Amino acid sequence: MYGLEGKVAVVSGAATGIGRAIAVRLAREGCDLGILDVNEEGAKQTAALVERAGRRCHVALTDVSDYQQVRKSTDRLLEVFGRIDLLYNNAGIIRIATLAETSLEDFRDVFRVNVDGVFHCCKAVVPHMMERRSGKIVNTASWFGKIGHAGYGAYCASKYAVIGLTQSLAREVASHRINVNAVCPGTIVDTCMREEADKESVRQGLATAREREGNIPWGRVGVPEDIARVAVFLASDEAEYMTGQAINVTGGLWMQ
Ligand SMILES: NC(=O)c1ccc[n+]([C@@H]2O[C@H](COP(=O)([O-])OP(=O)(O)OC[C@H]3O[C@@H](n4cnc5c(N)ncnc54)[C@H](O)[C@@H]3O)[C@@H](O)[C@H]2O)c1
Repeated sequence: MYGLEGKVAVVSGAATGIGRAIAVRLAREGCDLGILDVNEEGAKQTAALVERAGRRCHVALTDVSDYQQVRKSTDRLLEVFGRIDLLYNNAGIIRIATLAETSLEDFRDVFRVNVDGVFHCCKAVVPHMMERRSGKIVNTASWFGKIGHAGYGAYCASKYAVIGLTQSLAREVASHRINVNAVCPGTIVDTCMREEADKESVRQGLATAREREGNIPWGRVGVPEDIARVAVFLASDEAEYMTGQAINVTGGLWMQ
């Protein structure tokens, strides 16, 4: 349906959670996959799921916060597959603390992975896409990149930055027929990050994601497959006239 048969997709942070669901769904749509992740065991499990869907998968163990590693891995993926049609920047981390209590190290770590990581992967892949005058880039931002939340300052700021990068790059490469969009997930469960956030909520005596479900207009928390469905659309030519957008996938939790 989406015309993705035979395309090559590179997904960062596909070892678990949302990234894994995106990789598996892209494979079911006919894409071969390159995975950039630091979690070797998880990435191998995702690769096995991709291969079970009948597609090729190459895991490139990569810390996206390190440009040299990203460069080496994307060069390797270009050797293996010959081209990259879709870059999906999904790797991310979270640190939960008020700004006054956030350590300098935690603040920088969040930016190194969530912002530098997106920049590094785009810097490595965009010239290749420009040469081919074709490509799709999708970034996982968050609805936390559209409004601030107490206790999430570093994370929110990093996701605002992802949306800023998305919009700027979209303007730069539109004439090269490259689409750049972001997905802004809401409350997505069954991911490592969500587990971490829930643990912190419990520690602070606050409600977990599932306990807050009633606040979501759609009446349920999200699951990684909810994001994967939007990801395949944005990866396809069905979304050809969309660029520079930050799409909420929140069950109505956030509407701006
Ligand atoms: N779960 C949610 O509710 C939610 C909501 C909004 C946005 N997001 C975003 O979705 C994305 C995926 O998160 P998730 O919820 O699936 O959590 P997750 O922790 O399951 O997935 C994060 C992935 O990124 C990888 N990763 C972490 N640091 C890395 C690094 N330096 N280099 C390469 N890979 C690295 C991890 O190994 C993992 O595979 C993140 O960008 C997150 O900010 C999640």
